[in-house]
Amino acid sequence: MLKSLFVYGVLGVMLIPVKSKRITVCVEDDEELRVDCLIEPKPNKINTYQFSWSIGPRQETINTNVSGDSANKEFKDKSRVEELEPVGYRMTLSDFRDNLSDNTTFLCKISGQGENITVQKDNILSCSAVSLLLKNSWSWMVYLLLFFYHTHS
Ligand SMILES: *[C@@H]1O[C@H](CO)[C@@H](O)[C@H](O)[C@H]1NC(C)=O
Ligand SMILES: *[C@@H]1O[C@H](CO)[C@@H](O)[C@H](O)[C@H]1NC(C)=O
Ligand SMILES: *[C@@H]1O[C@H](CO)[C@@H](O)[C@H](O)[C@H]1NC(C)=O
Ligand SMILES: *[C@@H]1O[C@H](CO)[C@@H](O)[C@H](O)[C@H]1NC(C)=O
Repeated sequence: MLKSLFVYGVLGVMLIPVKSKRITVCVEDDEELRVDCLIEPKPNKINTYQFSWSIGPRQETINTNVSGDSANKEFKDKSRVEELEPVGYRMTLSDFRDNLSDNTTFLCKISGQGENITVQKDNILSCSAVSLLLKNSWSWMVYLLLFFYHTHS
C-alpha cells in the first residue's frame, strides 16, 4: 500500500513539470547551460525573443532581440540564441555556475508571451536526461519507477 502510494507520488511529480512548462533548463555535457523556450508566437506579431534570469530581486537580461532592449553586458560574449523547429528558441550560456544562486528563476518571452521556471543550483538536469525524457517519456518513467521501487523495497 505505502509502496504503491510512493510510486504514484513519483509518477505525479514527474508528470506535472513535463506537461505544463514551455521552458526547460538543463546543463549540456560541455557544461554550458541550455534554456529552451517553446512558446508558439502569435501570428502577425513581431517575432522576438528575450531570455533573462532573476536572482533574488534582480532580473538580468541574458539575450534578446527585442528592439530597444539589450542584454546585460556581462553576458555579451557568453550566450547565443538559435531557432528551434517547429517553434521556439534555444539560448546557450557558458560560465554561469558562479552566478547561480540556490534558487534561480529563468524567464523567457517570445513575441511578448512569457514563461518561467525556478531551478535549484544543484538540481539542474543534464540535457541528455531531458532529451531522453522528452523523446520517450513513458519508457524513461518506467525505468525510473522500477529504480525507485527496487531501491525502496
Ligand atoms: C529576432 O530574431 C528572429 C530569429 O532570428 C527573427 O526572425 C526576428 O525577426 C528578430 N526580431 C527582431 C525584432 O529583430
Ligand atoms: C557573475 O559572477 C562573476 C564572478 O563572481 C561576477 O563578476 C559577475 O558580475 C557576475 N555576473 C552577473 C551577471 O551577475
Ligand atoms: C525559490 O523561489 C520560489 C519562487 O520565487 C519560491 O516559491 C521558493 O520558496 C524559493 N525557494 C527557496 C528555497 O528559496
Ligand atoms: C511565472 O509564471 C507564473 C505562471 O506560470 C506567473 O504567475 C508568474 O507571475 C511568473 N513570474 C514571473 C517573475 O514572471
